[in-house]
Amino acid sequence: ADALKIGIAGLGTVGASLARILQQRHETLATTCGRAIEIRAVAARNRAKDRGVDLANIAWFEDAVSLASDADIDVFVELMGGAGDPAYSSVKAALQRGIHVVTANKALLAAHGIELAEIAEKHGALLNYEAAVAGGIPVIKVLRESMTGNTISRVYGIMNGTCNYILTKMEKEGLSFEECLKEAQRLGYAEADPAFDIEGNDTAHKLSILTSLAFGTAIAAEDIYLEGITNISIEDIHAAADLGYRIKLLGVAQRTESGIEQRVHPTMVPHDTVIAQVDGVTNAVAIESDILGELLMVGPGAGGDATASAVLGDIADIAKSRPGAQHVPAFGRPAKALLPYKRARMQ
Ligand code: NDP
Ligand code: HSE
Repeated sequence: ADALKIGIAGLGTVGASLARILQQRHETLATTCGRAIEIRAVAARNRAKDRGVDLANIAWFEDAVSLASDADIDVFVELMGGAGDPAYSSVKAALQRGIHVVTANKALLAAHGIELAEIAEKHGALLNYEAAVAGGIPVIKVLRESMTGNTISRVYGIMNGTCNYILTKMEKEGLSFEECLKEAQRLGYAEADPAFDIEGNDTAHKLSILTSLAFGTAIAAEDIYLEGITNISIEDIHAAADLGYRIKLLGVAQRTESGIEQRVHPTMVPHDTVIAQVDGVTNAVAIESDILGELLMVGPGAGGDATASAVLGDIADIAKSRPGAQHVPAFGRPAKALLPYKRARMQ
Protein backbone atom coordinates (compact mmCIF):
# COMPACT_ATOMS: atom_id res chain seq x y z
CA ALA A 1 0.00 0.00 0.00
CA ASP A 2 1.05 3.62 -0.50
CA ALA A 3 2.81 5.35 2.41
CA LEU A 4 0.61 7.32 4.80
CA LYS A 5 1.75 10.94 4.50
CA ILE A 6 1.53 12.99 7.65
CA GLY A 7 2.08 16.61 8.61
CA ILE A 8 2.89 17.51 12.19
CA ALA A 9 2.11 20.98 13.57
CA GLY A 10 3.97 21.46 16.85
CA LEU A 11 7.38 19.96 17.61
CA GLY A 12 7.54 20.54 21.35
CA THR A 13 7.49 17.92 24.11
CA VAL A 14 4.97 15.66 22.35
CA GLY A 15 5.61 16.54 18.70
CA ALA A 16 9.37 16.04 18.91
CA SER A 17 8.91 12.69 20.72
CA LEU A 18 6.45 11.57 18.07
CA ALA A 19 8.71 12.60 15.18
CA ARG A 20 11.72 10.84 16.73
CA ILE A 21 9.75 7.63 17.31
CA LEU A 22 8.33 7.69 13.76
CA GLN A 23 11.83 8.08 12.35
CA GLN A 24 13.50 5.52 14.62
CA ARG A 25 10.77 2.88 14.11
CA HIS A 26 10.05 3.56 10.47
CA GLU A 27 10.69 0.00 9.30
CA THR A 28 8.92 -1.75 12.17
CA LEU A 29 5.87 0.49 11.82
CA ALA A 30 5.73 -0.10 8.08
CA THR A 31 5.56 -3.83 8.76
CA THR A 32 3.07 -3.54 11.62
CA CYS A 33 0.75 -1.15 9.77
CA GLY A 34 1.12 -2.71 6.34
CA ARG A 35 2.35 0.62 4.93
CA ALA A 36 5.03 3.15 5.76
CA ILE A 37 4.20 6.27 7.78
CA GLU A 38 6.13 9.24 6.42
CA ILE A 39 6.48 12.73 7.82
CA ARG A 40 6.10 15.01 4.82
CA ALA A 41 5.64 18.39 6.52
CA VAL A 42 6.11 20.02 9.91
CA ALA A 43 5.27 23.39 11.46
CA ALA A 44 6.64 25.12 14.55
CA ARG A 45 7.64 28.65 15.46
CA ASN A 46 11.41 28.45 15.72
CA ARG A 47 13.11 26.77 12.79
CA ALA A 48 16.60 27.08 14.34
CA LYS A 49 15.77 25.01 17.45
CA ASP A 50 17.43 21.56 17.67
CA ARG A 51 14.68 19.05 18.44
CA GLY A 52 16.64 15.84 17.95
CA VAL A 53 14.61 15.23 14.79
CA ASP A 54 16.02 14.84 11.28
CA LEU A 55 14.19 17.50 9.28
CA ALA A 56 15.97 16.82 5.97
CA ASN A 57 13.51 16.26 3.10
CA ILE A 58 10.57 17.43 5.25
CA ALA A 59 8.73 20.57 4.19
CA TRP A 60 8.89 23.27 6.87
CA PHE A 61 5.88 25.54 7.41
CA GLU A 62 5.95 28.55 9.68
CA ASP A 63 2.18 28.72 9.50
CA ALA A 64 0.25 25.65 10.66
CA VAL A 65 -2.88 26.72 8.77
CA SER A 66 -0.91 26.73 5.51
CA LEU A 67 0.38 23.26 6.30
CA ALA A 68 -3.14 22.00 6.99
CA SER A 69 -4.54 23.74 3.87
CA ASP A 70 -1.82 23.13 1.29
CA ALA A 71 0.56 20.31 2.18
CA ASP A 72 0.33 16.98 0.32
CA ILE A 73 -0.70 14.89 3.36
CA ASP A 74 -3.24 12.25 4.40
CA VAL A 75 -3.17 13.07 8.13
CA PHE A 76 -2.75 16.38 9.95
CA VAL A 77 -1.32 15.92 13.45
CA GLU A 78 -2.01 18.93 15.67
CA LEU A 79 0.37 19.16 18.66
CA MET A 80 0.58 22.91 19.27
CA GLY A 81 -2.05 23.28 21.96
CA GLY A 82 -4.55 26.00 22.81
CA ALA A 83 -8.26 26.31 22.13
CA GLY A 84 -7.82 29.16 19.65
CA ASP A 85 -5.73 29.72 16.55
CA PRO A 86 -3.71 28.36 14.90
CA ALA A 87 -4.90 25.03 16.39
CA TYR A 88 -8.60 25.63 15.66
CA SER A 89 -8.24 27.03 12.14
CA SER A 90 -5.67 24.46 11.08
CA VAL A 91 -7.67 21.46 12.31
CA LYS A 92 -10.78 22.86 10.66
CA ALA A 93 -8.93 23.52 7.40
CA ALA A 94 -7.59 19.96 7.31
CA LEU A 95 -10.99 18.38 8.02
CA GLN A 96 -12.66 20.54 5.38
CA ARG A 97 -10.22 19.06 2.84
CA GLY A 98 -11.19 15.56 4.02
CA ILE A 99 -7.75 15.16 5.65
CA HIS A 100 -7.79 13.01 8.80
CA VAL A 101 -6.79 14.76 12.02
CA VAL A 102 -5.00 13.43 15.10
CA THR A 103 -4.68 15.76 18.07
CA ALA A 104 -3.74 15.71 21.76
CA ASN A 105 -5.38 19.08 22.34
CA LYS A 106 -8.08 18.78 25.01
CA ALA A 107 -8.49 22.56 25.31
CA LEU A 108 -9.41 22.68 21.62
CA LEU A 109 -11.81 19.74 21.88
CA ALA A 110 -13.45 21.09 25.03
CA ALA A 111 -14.16 24.34 23.19
CA HIS A 112 -14.90 23.11 19.64
CA GLY A 113 -15.02 19.30 19.73
CA ILE A 114 -18.60 18.84 18.57
CA GLU A 115 -18.26 21.35 15.73
CA LEU A 116 -15.02 19.68 14.58
CA ALA A 117 -16.57 16.22 14.81
CA GLU A 118 -19.45 17.42 12.62
CA ILE A 119 -17.05 18.84 10.04
CA ALA A 120 -15.09 15.57 10.06
CA GLU A 121 -18.30 13.58 9.56
CA LYS A 122 -19.43 15.84 6.71
CA HIS A 123 -16.12 15.51 4.85
CA GLY A 124 -15.50 11.83 5.53
CA ALA A 125 -12.43 12.47 7.68
CA LEU A 126 -11.42 10.82 10.94
CA LEU A 127 -10.84 12.90 14.08
CA ASN A 128 -8.74 10.90 16.55
CA TYR A 129 -7.74 12.26 19.97
CA GLU A 130 -6.66 9.41 22.23
CA ALA A 131 -3.82 11.46 23.75
CA ALA A 132 -6.14 14.30 24.77
CA VAL A 133 -7.30 12.53 27.95
CA ALA A 134 -5.03 10.83 30.49
CA GLY A 135 -1.94 10.76 28.22
CA GLY A 136 -1.03 7.18 27.33
CA ILE A 137 -4.12 5.52 28.89
CA PRO A 138 -6.40 4.39 26.03
CA VAL A 139 -9.62 5.67 27.61
CA ILE A 140 -11.04 7.27 24.46
CA LYS A 141 -10.91 4.00 22.55
CA VAL A 142 -12.46 2.20 25.50
CA LEU A 143 -15.40 4.61 25.64
CA ARG A 144 -15.79 5.10 21.87
CA GLU A 145 -15.36 1.46 20.89
CA SER A 146 -14.96 -1.23 23.52
CA MET A 147 -17.80 -0.17 25.82
CA THR A 148 -20.39 0.63 23.17
CA GLY A 149 -23.70 -0.78 24.40
CA ASN A 150 -22.97 -0.29 28.08
CA THR A 151 -24.97 2.20 30.09
CA ILE A 152 -22.39 4.12 32.03
CA SER A 153 -23.23 5.43 35.49
CA ARG A 154 -19.94 7.08 36.45
CA VAL A 155 -16.55 8.07 35.08
CA TYR A 156 -13.96 9.45 37.44
CA GLY A 157 -10.27 9.62 38.12
CA ILE A 158 -6.95 11.39 38.25
CA MET A 159 -6.59 13.09 34.87
CA ASN A 160 -3.81 15.62 35.38
CA GLY A 161 -0.26 14.35 35.74
CA THR A 162 1.14 17.70 36.83
CA CYS A 163 -1.22 18.01 39.81
CA ASN A 164 -0.74 14.42 40.88
CA TYR A 165 3.03 14.86 40.58
CA ILE A 166 2.89 18.00 42.74
CA LEU A 167 0.67 16.42 45.42
CA THR A 168 2.86 13.30 45.54
CA LYS A 169 6.17 15.18 45.74
CA MET A 170 4.86 17.55 48.42
CA GLU A 171 3.78 14.59 50.54
CA LYS A 172 6.67 12.20 49.97
CA GLU A 173 9.62 14.56 49.57
CA GLY A 174 8.48 17.57 51.55
CA LEU A 175 9.10 19.94 48.62
CA SER A 176 7.17 23.18 48.26
CA PHE A 177 4.30 23.55 45.79
CA GLU A 178 6.40 25.90 43.64
CA GLU A 179 9.41 23.55 43.54
CA CYS A 180 7.20 20.64 42.48
CA LEU A 181 5.51 22.68 39.78
CA LYS A 182 8.87 23.81 38.38
CA GLU A 183 10.02 20.20 38.22
CA ALA A 184 6.80 19.14 36.46
CA GLN A 185 7.40 21.90 33.91
CA ARG A 186 11.01 20.83 33.43
CA LEU A 187 9.86 17.26 32.76
CA GLY A 188 7.42 18.46 30.09
CA TYR A 189 4.26 17.48 32.00
CA ALA A 190 2.72 20.93 32.46
CA GLU A 191 0.68 22.95 29.97
CA ALA A 192 2.32 25.97 28.30
CA ASP A 193 0.39 28.00 30.90
CA PRO A 194 0.52 25.80 34.04
CA ALA A 195 -2.45 27.66 35.54
CA PHE A 196 -4.55 25.31 33.38
CA ASP A 197 -3.11 22.39 35.36
CA ILE A 198 -3.11 23.67 38.92
CA GLU A 199 -6.43 25.53 38.72
CA GLY A 200 -8.15 22.40 37.43
CA ASN A 201 -9.12 23.62 33.93
CA ASP A 202 -7.11 20.90 32.20
CA THR A 203 -8.89 18.21 34.21
CA ALA A 204 -12.19 19.93 33.38
CA HIS A 205 -11.38 19.91 29.66
CA LYS A 206 -10.60 16.19 29.82
CA LEU A 207 -13.63 15.38 31.94
CA SER A 208 -15.93 17.25 29.54
CA ILE A 209 -14.67 15.05 26.69
CA LEU A 210 -15.18 11.85 28.70
CA THR A 211 -18.64 12.99 29.79
CA SER A 212 -19.68 13.52 26.20
CA LEU A 213 -18.44 10.07 25.15
CA ALA A 214 -19.77 8.25 28.21
CA PHE A 215 -23.22 9.84 28.37
CA GLY A 216 -23.79 11.11 24.83
CA THR A 217 -24.18 14.69 26.01
CA ALA A 218 -22.73 17.94 24.69
CA ILE A 219 -19.20 18.85 25.68
CA ALA A 220 -19.78 21.44 28.42
CA ALA A 221 -16.59 22.20 30.36
CA GLU A 222 -18.08 25.52 31.46
CA ASP A 223 -20.78 23.69 33.46
CA ILE A 224 -18.27 21.81 35.61
CA TYR A 225 -17.90 22.65 39.30
CA LEU A 226 -14.21 23.58 39.38
CA GLU A 227 -11.62 23.82 42.12
CA GLY A 228 -7.89 23.29 41.59
CA ILE A 229 -5.05 22.45 43.95
CA THR A 230 -3.58 25.92 44.50
CA ASN A 231 -5.00 26.11 48.02
CA ILE A 232 -3.72 22.70 49.13
CA SER A 233 -0.98 23.04 51.75
CA ILE A 234 1.38 20.45 53.16
CA GLU A 235 -0.62 20.74 56.41
CA ASP A 236 -3.78 19.68 54.54
CA ILE A 237 -1.94 16.68 53.08
CA HIS A 238 -0.65 15.62 56.51
CA ALA A 239 -4.04 16.14 58.18
CA ALA A 240 -5.67 13.94 55.53
CA ALA A 241 -2.98 11.28 56.02
CA ASP A 242 -3.62 11.26 59.79
CA LEU A 243 -7.27 10.45 59.06
CA GLY A 244 -6.35 7.65 56.61
CA TYR A 245 -6.82 9.60 53.37
CA ARG A 246 -4.75 11.02 50.53
CA ILE A 247 -5.69 14.16 48.65
CA LYS A 248 -6.14 13.68 44.91
CA LEU A 249 -7.45 16.07 42.26
CA LEU A 250 -10.36 14.10 40.82
CA GLY A 251 -12.64 14.66 37.88
CA VAL A 252 -16.04 13.00 38.35
CA ALA A 253 -18.99 12.71 35.96
CA GLN A 254 -22.03 10.72 37.03
CA ARG A 255 -25.71 10.15 36.44
CA THR A 256 -27.91 11.76 39.09
CA GLU A 257 -31.66 12.25 39.33
CA SER A 258 -31.21 15.79 38.06
CA GLY A 259 -29.00 14.91 35.11
CA ILE A 260 -25.32 14.33 34.45
CA GLU A 261 -23.24 15.96 37.16
CA GLN A 262 -19.62 16.98 36.49
CA ARG A 263 -17.10 18.15 39.06
CA VAL A 264 -13.38 18.68 39.50
CA HIS A 265 -11.90 19.25 42.95
CA PRO A 266 -9.34 17.99 45.46
CA THR A 267 -10.84 14.93 47.11
CA MET A 268 -10.01 12.92 50.25
CA VAL A 269 -9.56 9.37 48.95
CA PRO A 270 -9.33 6.46 51.45
CA HIS A 271 -5.71 5.36 51.71
CA ASP A 272 -6.38 1.69 50.93
CA THR A 273 -7.96 2.28 47.50
CA VAL A 274 -6.09 1.90 44.21
CA ILE A 275 -6.75 5.52 43.24
CA ALA A 276 -5.18 6.77 46.48
CA GLN A 277 -2.02 4.83 45.67
CA VAL A 278 -1.60 6.34 42.20
CA ASP A 279 1.51 8.50 42.49
CA GLY A 280 3.48 10.99 40.45
CA VAL A 281 2.60 11.68 36.83
CA THR A 282 0.51 8.50 36.68
CA ASN A 283 -3.20 8.91 35.92
CA ALA A 284 -6.14 6.63 36.70
CA VAL A 285 -9.57 6.49 35.09
CA ALA A 286 -12.46 4.40 36.45
CA ILE A 287 -15.60 3.66 34.46
CA GLU A 288 -18.69 2.12 36.08
CA SER A 289 -21.25 0.54 33.79
CA ASP A 290 -24.05 -2.02 33.73
CA ILE A 291 -22.73 -4.75 31.40
CA LEU A 292 -18.99 -4.63 32.02
CA GLY A 293 -19.07 -3.55 35.67
CA GLU A 294 -16.15 -1.49 36.96
CA LEU A 295 -13.10 -0.90 34.80
CA LEU A 296 -10.02 0.83 36.22
CA MET A 297 -7.13 1.93 34.04
CA VAL A 298 -3.88 3.21 35.50
CA GLY A 299 -0.90 4.46 33.50
CA PRO A 300 1.36 7.31 32.39
CA GLY A 301 -0.71 10.49 32.18
CA ALA A 302 1.72 12.98 30.65
CA GLY A 303 5.20 13.35 29.20
CA GLY A 304 6.55 13.31 25.66
CA ASP A 305 6.91 9.60 25.01
CA ALA A 306 3.79 8.43 26.87
CA THR A 307 1.67 10.96 25.00
CA ALA A 308 3.38 10.28 21.68
CA SER A 309 2.53 6.60 22.18
CA ALA A 310 -1.19 7.44 22.14
CA VAL A 311 -0.81 9.83 19.19
CA LEU A 312 1.09 7.16 17.30
CA GLY A 313 -1.67 4.65 18.03
CA ASP A 314 -4.20 7.04 16.46
CA ILE A 315 -2.01 7.46 13.37
CA ALA A 316 -1.47 3.70 13.11
CA ASP A 317 -5.25 3.16 13.33
CA ILE A 318 -5.64 5.35 10.24
CA ALA A 319 -2.76 3.59 8.47
CA LYS A 320 -4.41 0.23 9.13
CA SER A 321 -7.96 1.31 8.31
CA ARG A 322 -7.97 -0.22 4.84
CA PRO A 323 -10.74 -2.65 3.96
CA GLY A 324 -9.53 -6.15 4.73
CA ALA A 325 -6.46 -5.10 6.74
CA GLN A 326 -5.62 -7.88 9.17
CA HIS A 327 -3.10 -8.57 11.85
CA VAL A 328 -0.72 -10.94 10.08
CA PRO A 329 2.31 -12.04 12.14
CA ALA A 330 5.47 -10.59 10.59
CA PHE A 331 8.22 -10.99 13.18
CA GLY A 332 8.79 -14.74 13.30
CA ARG A 333 7.80 -17.03 16.14
CA PRO A 334 8.02 -16.30 19.88
CA ALA A 335 10.71 -18.23 21.77
CA LYS A 336 9.83 -21.69 23.07
CA ALA A 337 9.10 -21.74 26.80
CA LEU A 338 12.52 -21.71 28.47
CA LEU A 339 11.78 -21.28 32.16
CA PRO A 340 9.71 -23.59 34.33
CA TYR A 341 6.57 -21.62 35.24
CA LYS A 342 7.40 -21.43 38.95
CA ARG A 343 10.80 -19.88 38.30
CA ALA A 344 9.58 -17.29 35.82
CA ARG A 345 9.60 -13.77 37.24
CA MET A 346 8.22 -10.54 35.84
CA GLN A 347 11.16 -8.18 35.30
P1 NDP B 1 4.94 22.39 23.82
O1 NDP B 1 4.68 23.75 24.34
O2 NDP B 1 6.10 21.64 24.31
O3 NDP B 1 5.06 22.45 22.22
C1 NDP B 1 4.21 23.23 21.43
C2 NDP B 1 4.75 23.24 20.01
O4 NDP B 1 3.86 23.97 19.19
C3 NDP B 1 6.14 23.87 19.87
O5 NDP B 1 6.92 23.12 18.96
C4 NDP B 1 5.83 25.25 19.29
O6 NDP B 1 6.87 25.74 18.44
C5 NDP B 1 4.61 24.93 18.46
N1 NDP B 1 3.75 26.12 18.31
C6 NDP B 1 3.19 26.86 19.28
N2 NDP B 1 2.50 27.87 18.74
C7 NDP B 1 2.64 27.76 17.40
C8 NDP B 1 2.19 28.52 16.30
N3 NDP B 1 1.45 29.63 16.48
N4 NDP B 1 2.52 28.12 15.06
C9 NDP B 1 3.28 27.02 14.87
N5 NDP B 1 3.74 26.26 15.87
C10 NDP B 1 3.43 26.63 17.13
O7 NDP B 1 3.59 21.58 24.05
P2 NDP B 1 3.40 20.01 24.33
O8 NDP B 1 4.14 19.24 23.33
O9 NDP B 1 3.61 19.76 25.77
O10 NDP B 1 1.82 19.86 24.09
C11 NDP B 1 1.28 19.81 22.77
C12 NDP B 1 -0.20 19.44 22.88
O11 NDP B 1 -0.32 18.16 23.50
C13 NDP B 1 -1.03 20.38 23.75
O12 NDP B 1 -2.34 20.44 23.23
C14 NDP B 1 -1.04 19.69 25.11
O13 NDP B 1 -2.14 20.03 25.89
C15 NDP B 1 -1.14 18.25 24.66
N6 NDP B 1 -0.67 17.26 25.62
C16 NDP B 1 0.55 17.40 26.20
C17 NDP B 1 1.01 16.45 27.06
C18 NDP B 1 2.34 16.56 27.72
O14 NDP B 1 2.64 15.70 28.59
N7 NDP B 1 3.15 17.53 27.41
C19 NDP B 1 0.18 15.27 27.40
C20 NDP B 1 -1.08 15.20 26.70
C21 NDP B 1 -1.49 16.18 25.86
P3 NDP B 1 8.35 26.09 18.98
O15 NDP B 1 8.92 24.77 19.45
O16 NDP B 1 9.07 26.60 17.80
O17 NDP B 1 8.17 27.06 20.09
N1 HSE C 1 -0.56 19.05 31.46
C1 HSE C 1 -1.19 17.78 31.31
C2 HSE C 1 -1.04 16.99 32.57
C3 HSE C 1 -0.62 17.04 30.14
O1 HSE C 1 -0.19 17.35 33.41
O2 HSE C 1 -1.74 16.01 32.77
C4 HSE C 1 -1.35 15.76 29.83
O3 HSE C 1 -2.62 16.02 29.33
